Amino acid sequence: MIRFEGVTKAFGGRKILDDFSFEVGKGEILFLLGKSGMGKSVTLKHIVGLLKPDWGRVFVDDIEVSCLDEARLGPVRRKCGMVFQHPALLDSLTVRENVAFGLRAPEWTEARALERVRETLGLVHLGPELLDRLPAELSYGMQKRVSLARTLAPGPDTLLFDEPTTGLDPITTTAVNALIHDLSRNLHVTSLVVSHDMESALKLADRILVLDQGRILALGTPQDIERSPEPLVQDFLSEALERRRTR
Ligand SMILES: Nc1ncnc2c1ncn2[C@@H]1O[C@H](COP(=O)(O)OP(=O)(O)O)[C@@H](O)[C@H]1O
Ligand SMILES: [Mg+2]
Repeated sequence: MIRFEGVTKAFGGRKILDDFSFEVGKGEILFLLGKSGMGKSVTLKHIVGLLKPDWGRVFVDDIEVSCLDEARLGPVRRKCGMVFQHPALLDSLTVRENVAFGLRAPEWTEARALERVRETLGLVHLGPELLDRLPAELSYGMQKRVSLARTLAPGPDTLLFDEPTTGLDPITTTAVNALIHDLSRNLHVTSLVVSHDMESALKLADRILVLDQGRILALGTPQDIERSPEPLVQDFLSEALERRRTR
């Protein structure tokens, strides 16, 4: 579904991605882990065409997105839903209007859009009683769900998550992780999850990729990663253990 071939990207002479190649298979959950500033968000931006590689190529579903202009990126962006760390809802719009945001006429009549809004709220375990509420009237965890529902509404087949559990309390983290799991397993959505949360990665990922200095430091199943001799990977693992212990 997603494929990077030898992608190099530099900012101000500093290489953020350095001959970086990997792929995410259809229906797979791949966690991309790395320290802050290591190019995780930059990687996601290449997939939706917000950034272009200096060298190398990026494919989504065998379409080379790294050579598409803005006009031709539209269909790709509809296939790839992006889920940001913070719920980016429009404050003055109701839950219904926020979730329906990407459902435009003529494909979506008002009646079909409302039906789809109800259905996607159901996917994130929210009821229709919330339809007319404003974001400020919801808890942070609910806002995150509404934000996820908005991304899901147009029916993307790939979801790109940027730090979905960073800064969340353990209960909301568990709920968000359960959603990622269910979407992937029930709807066969392909998920690329950018994170530095090794604990969630070990629980959810089919494979984990650890990015460091623009390159792959480790790549494999959670079991492979747990056996990795790399000191940085071991740091991530002991941090995850520590967090589990102190709860
Ligand atoms: N558009 C940009 N222009 C210049 N530098 C950028 C740009 N986007 C990201 N960077 C730099 O690239 C590095 C990686 O950023 P990012 O991918 O956001 O890190 P993270 O792994 O924390 O998500 C950072 O040093 C950041 O400052
Ligand atoms: Mg980031």
